[in-house]
This record gives sequence, C-alpha cells and structure tokens, in this order.
Amino acid sequence: MRGFFGRKMTMVAALLATTGMASAEDVEVLHWWTSGGEAAALNVLKDDLAAQGIGWVDMPVAGGGGEAAMTALRARVTAGDAPTAVQMLGFDIQDWAAEGALGNLNDVAAAEGWDAVIPAALQRFSKYDGNWIAAPVNVHSTNWIWISKSALDAAGGKAPETWDELVTLLDAMKANGITPIAHGGQAWQDATIFDSLVLAEGTDFYKAAFVDLDPAALGGEKMADAFTKLMKMRTYFDDNFSGRDWNLASAMVINGEAGMQFMGDWAKGEFLKAGQVPGTDFVCIRFPGTQGAVTFNSDQFAMFNVQGDGKKAAQAAMATAIESPGFQSAFNVVKGSAPARTDVPDTDFDDCGKKAIKDLAEASAADTLFGSMAHGHAAPAAVKNATYDVITAAVNGEYADGAAAAAALADAVAAAQ
Ligand code: GAL
Repeated sequence: MRGFFGRKMTMVAALLATTGMASAEDVEVLHWWTSGGEAAALNVLKDDLAAQGIGWVDMPVAGGGGEAAMTALRARVTAGDAPTAVQMLGFDIQDWAAEGALGNLNDVAAAEGWDAVIPAALQRFSKYDGNWIAAPVNVHSTNWIWISKSALDAAGGKAPETWDELVTLLDAMKANGITPIAHGGQAWQDATIFDSLVLAEGTDFYKAAFVDLDPAALGGEKMADAFTKLMKMRTYFDDNFSGRDWNLASAMVINGEAGMQFMGDWAKGEFLKAGQVPGTDFVCIRFPGTQGAVTFNSDQFAMFNVQGDGKKAAQAAMATAIESPGFQSAFNVVKGSAPARTDVPDTDFDDCGKKAIKDLAEASAADTLFGSMAHGHAAPAAVKNATYDVITAAVNGEYADGAAAAAALADAVAAAQ
C-alpha cells in the first residue's frame, strides 16, 4: 500500500508543480454515505487523502438517494459557502453546471487521460460543455435482488428467473413465516423497485418511457402492467415498512427476518459489513426479466467553484485519488459498486462484484445500459420527482388499478417538463 500512496503523492506533486498550484488545503465533503457499508467505503477515500496529508471535513447529510443532501447543498450555495466537493448524481450535476456553480477538472483529466478510461455513459454527466466538472467514483445499478440464502433454501432453493417464479418464491417465503420483501417506504426506495419493473417490460420500453419520456409509453399498457406488479409486491411487505431506511431493510434480510430486498448494489455493502459472503449467506440476482440490461447510477464528486489555490489544489488531489485504479478497486470492493473506469481488474471483487462489472460491460456493448430514473440518471429532477409522487401513491394504494396509475404518471411527467 505504501508504494501505491507514494506513487500517487508524486503524481499529485507533479501536477501541482505544473499547474503552479499551492499546497492542498483540507477538503470539505458533503455526502449521504452514512450507513455502515457506505461509511466503510468512504473511509477508504478519507484514508487515501490522509496519506497525502489532506484533511477531511465531513458534512454528512443522512438520507438514501441524496434528496436531503441536495436540499442542504442548496442552502450552503445560497449562503455563498459551497463545500469543496459534493457527492452528486446524474442530472443534478448538469443542473449545477448550468448554473455556473462548478469548477473545472480539465487539467487533472488531461494529465491522467480520463477521456480514454471513463465510459461515455458516465462522461455524459461528468462533463458540461466539454469541460470536466466532476470525478466519477463508481457505477451502481438498481436492477438487483438480494436474497437470504437460508430463506431461499427453505423455500426450495431456486433463484427466480421469471416474474412467475418470483411470485412463487415470495409465496413460499410467506408460508414459511418470514416477511418476503424487506422494503423501506420512502419515495426513492419505491422508485428503485419501479426501475426494475419498468425495465422488465423491455429495454425499448424503458428507454421510451423513462429516457425519451414518450407519453404513450408512460401512460400505456406496459406501464399499467408495471404498476399492477408494484401493487402486487406491496402485498409482500411487512406492516412497518413506511419510512424505514434502506439499510434497515437490508438488515432484515441479513438477520433472516425477511427473504429478499430489491435494491441497488450499495445493499451489498451492508451484507459485507455484517460479515456475510455472496453465495454462502446471500445471493445476488438481476431482477427477473432484466437479465442482460442494466439501470445504472454513478456517484460523482462535483467540484464547486471555490476560491483560493489551496482549495483548488485540494480538489485536484481528491480527483486524482478518486480516479486512480488502485483506489477504484479498493473503494468499490467495499461499496458494492463497479469501478468508474473500464480498465480496473476485477481480481479483488467478490462474485457479485465480478458479475456487476461483467453485466455493465455487456449492457454497454449491447446498448441495454440505461440511466436509473430513481437515481437521477434518466431525467432531470423535476421529472424524477413527478415519477416519485405517482409511484409512491401507487404503493400506498391510491389508484384503482395499474391503468389509473399509468395515466396519472403520463399526466405528472407532462406537467413536470
Ligand atoms: C444512491 C447512491 C448510492 C447509495 C444509495 C443509498 O443514490 O448512488 O451510493 O448511497 O443512494 O444511500
């Protein structure tokens, strides 16, 4: 490890020398990585920067998916006091760039050849007007199911490959006296499940509905079917699901109280933190009907337009640390995500991590890689929030049927644009 950090310090020193920057100040980082698995991953970054003598001022804003963090960020920027770096997703990065609030990482990116190793799907969010404005940390994806191995074995042992097999398994788990689906009733979690249900209706359909925002797709029969399935899933939640944090839902699967969780692969960070092993204690599968496709989100650190060479130097050092291949492996092994670079070996990743990396590459090649609506990579915040409202209303039984929910979604998305 020493050699690895040593090499990087030399690179940062060289970069600072060529750009004439001052030595780096501490970084103040706004983020929402507060669960056990998330904090463990964040520590990899803190330790990496500490080894370079860069201190860390922590600004955690709890709340999965980052809604509360984005509200806190707005207040900070309005007060004229932007943090050095901010964890951010997809269209939010582009919105801040459009406001002229973000700095510029072009020098670091050029010196380190980011253009060649960071895939276009991520660059689409890390760059604005051709300039690098954010450093991508990872690629998560939302179309996963995390199943307790013992609960699966007790229910017949076969991981479901189709919707019907999934329902059969959920019924068997119910009959075995456990909560079939561990879920937290928060809008972003409801929407995370819905990403998978919409993708399972077909990749062309996902694109038409959630990327192109085609009113006919949003309000049509396939969307009605996705909502009908969401309503069916609701029947497998426990009575206390409202408001539950996602990591507490993961804990229900970890401790055998529940059978499975539909969640992005940050959930794996919780299983690992609890000492569980893929294949032995839990099983990761793609949501039935979405095999071969991926709905992704990429955590990126957007660098704000800070004043002072010391702060700019800290941003450059942090960006360098984040994109180094060694860090990309070490961090993402703990976080549950795939690396943001395409040239990081999968050697240190567990079986679920290897699958995540392989699925991502295959989906990218097959054109079946799509931004997650739930996590801000399919459409801008106003549209995302409109989908949240309808999806959550559907979970809460506010529509007579799937068709009514689909009609409401088409209306809500139209109004939000
Ligand atoms: C996502 C984010 C993940 C994870 C998750 C739950 O939006 O991309 O890194 O933090 O929220 O907090």
